[in-house]
Amino acid sequence: MSKIIQFTDVTLRDGEQTPGVSFSVREKTTIASMLEKLGVNCIEAGFASSSAGDMEAIDRIARQSRSNTTVCSLARCKVEDIDAAAKALTNASKPKIHIIIGCSDIHLKYKFGFTPEQLLSRIKVMIRYAADTGMQIQFSAEDATRADREFLRSVYLTALDSGANIINITDTVGYSLPDEFESLVRSARGWVGDDVLLSVHCHNDLGLATANSLAGIKGGADMVECTLNAMGERAGNASLEEVAVALRVRADLMDFRDTIKAKHIYPVCKAVATYSGLSVGHNKPIVGDNCFTHQSGIHQNSVLKNPSTYELFNPNLIGRVSNELMLSRLSGRHGFEERLKELGYELSRDELDDAFARFMQLAEFRKTVSDKEISALAQSYTSKVTHHTYTLKNYQSISGSNAITTATVNIGMAGGDVLKAAAGDGPVDAVFRAIEEATGISFKMVSLDVKAVDEGKDSLCEVRLIMEKDGRRFIGRGINTDMIAASAFAYMNALNRAVLVLNSFKEDDNEED
Ligand code: KIV
Ligand code: ZN
Repeated sequence: MSKIIQFTDVTLRDGEQTPGVSFSVREKTTIASMLEKLGVNCIEAGFASSSAGDMEAIDRIARQSRSNTTVCSLARCKVEDIDAAAKALTNASKPKIHIIIGCSDIHLKYKFGFTPEQLLSRIKVMIRYAADTGMQIQFSAEDATRADREFLRSVYLTALDSGANIINITDTVGYSLPDEFESLVRSARGWVGDDVLLSVHCHNDLGLATANSLAGIKGGADMVECTLNAMGERAGNASLEEVAVALRVRADLMDFRDTIKAKHIYPVCKAVATYSGLSVGHNKPIVGDNCFTHQSGIHQNSVLKNPSTYELFNPNLIGRVSNELMLSRLSGRHGFEERLKELGYELSRDELDDAFARFMQLAEFRKTVSDKEISALAQSYTSKVTHHTYTLKNYQSISGSNAITTATVNIGMAGGDVLKAAAGDGPVDAVFRAIEEATGISFKMVSLDVKAVDEGKDSLCEVRLIMEKDGRRFIGRGINTDMIAASAFAYMNALNRAVLVLNSFKEDDNEED
């Protein structure tokens, strides 16, 4: 019987470290439900001590998760972090605390100023402390691939002696080459023995994260840590969709099994792209728009005769279905609700009422409504920032070839509604300026993208924007058939995220004591 490889998804933790990305609690719980449907074994739900938002998201994910899914929080080798992780995971059926500390010479010297002995003693004390919680303990020696091999061995053995159950081998800065990484994992297997669960965590700085993860599996790893759409610090992490599909396409050379239900890959990657505000590159393996598009006439002819001439796998494998279901006004409320569930969205009763009314309006106008539009509608509720500080109650904008463009907005906030007007360079700019006037908060606009959710002149319109304040970036998203309204909602979405994050942001994210 072939060995089962476990998947830990770190999209909600390392993925959220992608510059500019900040998921709301609701987005995290929605993504976590989708990850469970996808069949991941473990969800790293966040870094409990980093913010109140992470603490809340981990707690909610722990409460909602099925009994066979492990839910994990990251923690530095510090009492406060371990306490926060244990608290956030109290209600998880299978809780795991993931403890990290840098172990390469570079980290020892520049990050901590520790001697190797001091580091070992810190690991011993903190892992013992964490193991006392009775929770599963995963230990990561950060920057393992640049650490001294003999020292790394002592670090892993110390962690295991002190109570760790899982050793995670990290290529923190994406430095390793596949042969080298396979050999490191093989050595680690020799050090720790056959009974310890070995995991790998690879970054993509040299474009080798997927190759290194597969090499790690060949070297004896039992688990891979990945993100969806390869999100993550700097150049990102190993992509779950790439590793899972490679294991299927090259099963001839890699005889492994896993619990991933591949048909959910495409929908969940799309949802994560929307929630993160980061579109997937057209040529991104597996999920990019161009993966099954053939430009050359020779290729097109051959693919018509047999797709396997230029396609490694059938797109249906990952749920990229071309003949997607279309709903119409005759589908009724039941059909609409069922489709939402199949697409992975859970809305409250009030949201469902509202979403169904919007769906009927759209269906009246468009005759049929696609899955892309239904997802976009659903995401406009799940992306909402729950702690609404500011609400756009209504707006009006006037523009024309001979008119001064102006906008008026009515913004609800603590202390009452505020009505403000502003002139601008076009209707979108005028609305943004009026919101700025009303709230007294200004941002630098970094980017603004407008796209139609589906084909047709009457498609819903999606606006994604990135705004900057105090050196931090915030993504906002808005959906409407009216482009100005979609822009205004996107602005409000980013504004509310910013207020939430800037208020809860903790200054203290230094690594050592
Ligand atoms: O890249 C890394 O080393 C990490 C650790 C926290 C596992 O993300
Ligand atoms: Zn990482």
